[in-house]
Amino acid sequence: SMDKPHIVTCTAPVNIAVIKYWGKRNEELILPINSSLSVTLHQDQLKTTTTVASSRSFQEDQIWLNGKEEDITHPRLQSCLREIRRLARKRRNDGDSGLDSTGLSHKVHICSVNNFPTAAGLASSAAGFACLVYTLARVFGVEGELSGIARQGSGSACRSMYGGFVQWIMGQKDDGKDSLAQQVEPETHWPELRILVLVASAERKPVGSTSGMQTSVQTSCLLKHRAESVAPGRMVEMIEAVRRKNFAAFAELTMKDSNQFHATCLDTYPPIFYLSSVSQQVITLVHRYNSYYGETRLAYTFDAGPNAVIFTLQQHVPEFVQVVQHFFPPETNGGQFIKGLPVNCTDLP
Ligand code: PMV
Repeated sequence: SMDKPHIVTCTAPVNIAVIKYWGKRNEELILPINSSLSVTLHQDQLKTTTTVASSRSFQEDQIWLNGKEEDITHPRLQSCLREIRRLARKRRNDGDSGLDSTGLSHKVHICSVNNFPTAAGLASSAAGFACLVYTLARVFGVEGELSGIARQGSGSACRSMYGGFVQWIMGQKDDGKDSLAQQVEPETHWPELRILVLVASAERKPVGSTSGMQTSVQTSCLLKHRAESVAPGRMVEMIEAVRRKNFAAFAELTMKDSNQFHATCLDTYPPIFYLSSVSQQVITLVHRYNSYYGETRLAYTFDAGPNAVIFTLQQHVPEFVQVVQHFFPPETNGGQFIKGLPVNCTDLP
């Protein structure tokens, strides 16, 4: 019948920034003050799954996140819906019928679920908005460059539109048309690389990234220095380290950039604390481990929360997991656990 809903389901993985994005130059369009670079996780690991149904019988657009209905009038959600519908209209005006796509006037019902804690500093918004934009594009028969739309949902989401090693080029234009994600290397490029997530707390972060960035831009002179004089050079060095699969260079840049990001948080007034004492213990452990072996075998990075993301190479995973289990036994530290996240393989530790 004409009222049969059109249904599409897609998944999008989380990405972990190794050169961090922190600070916007335009709040509405979500344009950053520096370029950033991330690694997109394997599809089977931390991910969002989104189903979009469209039907002429739906009265309104509606959204459910992890089973709970949320406010569809959220401005960033509205930006994504508006931009996808705009592209669909343009495509049809250009004479492309979009054969198996939904009617332009049809309302959508969106259901999105994460297989990991939401807003615990595990980049849930990145996977969430990337998945939303990708799924809506499929429903409305839109193709091509979509990272600029995902960016308007959540800045870091633009990087989850691609697999492997991805840069978000900050761009120069005021309209944001050149502020896009671009793949640096595909997911097959560095098969030995592994990512481990040490969950120190699954609670919601006290200061969200949006308000945290605002306060940092307004008050931190370290952030200004970072964006203007540090991040550009690090992007060049990081792309080179990734291209050459130079783990020591990759790891050192990753740790220094995470540390500088958290230093800008401390330099923000009032200061923002994302790292906990467990996070600090993990940092100390990683440096001791590396100096014990006399080579850089591990790197840590932390986003807007206390959970550690560890990068290492495949051959070091079993031993490091043992070390973590020795120093952070699950029963003593409030149920922390370790999760092995191969970038490109399936051999979980
Ligand atoms: O895109 P947002 O607003 O979730 O900000 C992400 C900020 C960090 O995760 C801390 C850094 C990054 O580049 O992902």
